[in-house]
Amino acid sequence: MNPLVLPVDENSIARAAALLREGKLVAFPTETVYGLGADATNGPAVAAIYAAKGRPSFNPLIIHVAEPRALDNLIEWNDTARLLASSLWPGPLTLILPRKNDSPISLLASAGLDTLAVRIPSHPAAQKLLRAVNLPIAAPSANASGKLSPTTPIHVAESLGNKVDLILAGGRSQIGVESTVVNLASPQPSILRPGGVTQEQLEMILGYKLPLYDAPAESTDAPPSPGMLASHYAPHLPVRLNAENIGDREAYLAFGPDSFVKGGAARLNLSPQGDLSEAAANLFAMLRELDKPIYSGIAVAPIPNTGLGVAINDRLSRAAVR
Ligand code: TXA
Ligand code: MG
Repeated sequence: MNPLVLPVDENSIARAAALLREGKLVAFPTETVYGLGADATNGPAVAAIYAAKGRPSFNPLIIHVAEPRALDNLIEWNDTARLLASSLWPGPLTLILPRKNDSPISLLASAGLDTLAVRIPSHPAAQKLLRAVNLPIAAPSANASGKLSPTTPIHVAESLGNKVDLILAGGRSQIGVESTVVNLASPQPSILRPGGVTQEQLEMILGYKLPLYDAPAESTDAPPSPGMLASHYAPHLPVRLNAENIGDREAYLAFGPDSFVKGGAARLNLSPQGDLSEAAANLFAMLRELDKPIYSGIAVAPIPNTGLGVAINDRLSRAAVR
């Protein structure tokens, strides 16, 4: 059975909000990737997210709201959080903060941690939905666990099918990689997941260095951001990074002017101009497009490890772990 897919308008937003209030699952667009949303205060609804994604239950979810005020009864604010919130929200930033004792968020949503991941997305449809439902919404990326994140409603339908009650179709996600996760719950703030906001942007606002947490390569026991498992965002085909040549049966994912690299069975270019924002926006869709059994693997050109390139290389290195 195909899932219900509706374009974003007043009626579909009202319908989506009603479904969320009933404890149902709604996939919705954000500026980073599509999210699989449920009422974060409703334990069974949150459990349905884990079931639909086939996600290990120790992996906590991001709580989405429309405006900072809506976080007052969920988390303990601190000065750094207020500074980052006023500079970068709404936008592709997730903050980890201490959970309020009487926070109404389901314990399952935060996987039993005493912290919460919170985010205010900027996508107009996400904003409208969050305002209409007026509840905190738990939303991981709307894909089966460990697979590529969806940047179009079609990706969501392909990955989750009728496990989702409604897909709000709001076009392509503009940023294309997930939000940057910043841990503000420990004395020394750090970046747990590189994403749509760059390390440089954050350091500029904070006025000090923000270390990038290095995920232990294969360890699955209690990483500080449990979504940072080494193998994640995995296409079916083997992925070969920093490729300087291409095998006859390999598909090639290029970056920048690439005419000097010949061969391959297929090729797509993340950004012929070498623009990292364009590359981030194309990343998951192009990996999906090349992930076909007719090829032997996906060879990926080197991507500069600066700005948004850090998030792109992070996702690529996870895609390359078998
Ligand atoms: O851009 C995004 O962030 C998308 C859109 C839908 O908002 N959401 C997303 O959610 O990527 P998800 O569930 O795929 O990733 C959430 C990340 C994971 O790495 C998870 O481990 C981490 O946030 N996380 C959630 N709660 C946490 C917590 N309390 N402490 C540390 N890390 C946490
Ligand atoms: Mg995800």
